[in-house]
Amino acid sequence: MRIDVYLTPFFPEIELMFADSYVVMIDVLRASSTIAAALYNNAKEIITTDTTEKAISIYNNLDKEHRFLAGERNCIKPSGFDAGNSPSEFKRELVENKTVIITTTNGTKIFSKAKEAKKRIIACFVNFDIVLNDIYDAIQDNKVKSIYFLCAGTNGRITYEDSLCAGAYISNIFKKFTDINITDSAQTSMDLYELHKSHLIDFIKSREHSQKLISLNLEKDVDECLSLNKYPVLPVLIGNKIIKEKKF
Ligand code: MLT
Repeated sequence: MRIDVYLTPFFPEIELMFADSYVVMIDVLRASSTIAAALYNNAKEIITTDTTEKAISIYNNLDKEHRFLAGERNCIKPSGFDAGNSPSEFKRELVENKTVIITTTNGTKIFSKAKEAKKRIIACFVNFDIVLNDIYDAIQDNKVKSIYFLCAGTNGRITYEDSLCAGAYISNIFKKFTDINITDSAQTSMDLYELHKSHLIDFIKSREHSQKLISLNLEKDVDECLSLNKYPVLPVLIGNKIIKEKKF
């Protein structure tokens, strides 16, 4: 078993490199957290797309009663959209049984990757434990050869919140299964997490993306996205749709 991490979405995706693997897609601020909130509140499915034009076109082709258009550009809701990218906007009475279409700047770049993987899961802090337990099951049952963490980053650069979230997962997995082979980038994420874990929330809140959201009066979003296990769902990406996987 091998664990690897890509800290930004800009890496050469060689054909079949994700075959036989479990892929964890992380955009803590805020796409992964928003997706978890929407599914927790019973959205039927989520479709992510890279442009506002594509998002509007998908929305226009859906039944009026069962659609919800959301997303952001430069952290702000595009005009005419039902919601921006704040998890708190995806209330049960607004999204239940609806197809949610989301377009975001960085998150979308990872959600289109690793199509041949055995499993693709959207993860962050709000659904941390349920994803971690699913990874444990996959390792215990020998279901996959590798686990990859794909971090959204920001505009091609590394962000602490995503790297630390990946590092937190790897640190837990490594403590439980010591015979795992981890790459240098996986070790780096784990080292960063170990360095900052005692003051994780304050540290993430002091960094770039949090500060940008705080400057836009969106501190409540940062706090919500850092609320451990607030939305315990397993968002699984199948084709281009994200649905809630039910654990029995
Ligand atoms: C993104 O995908 O770029 C983000 O989720 C940005 C944000 O809305 O905070």
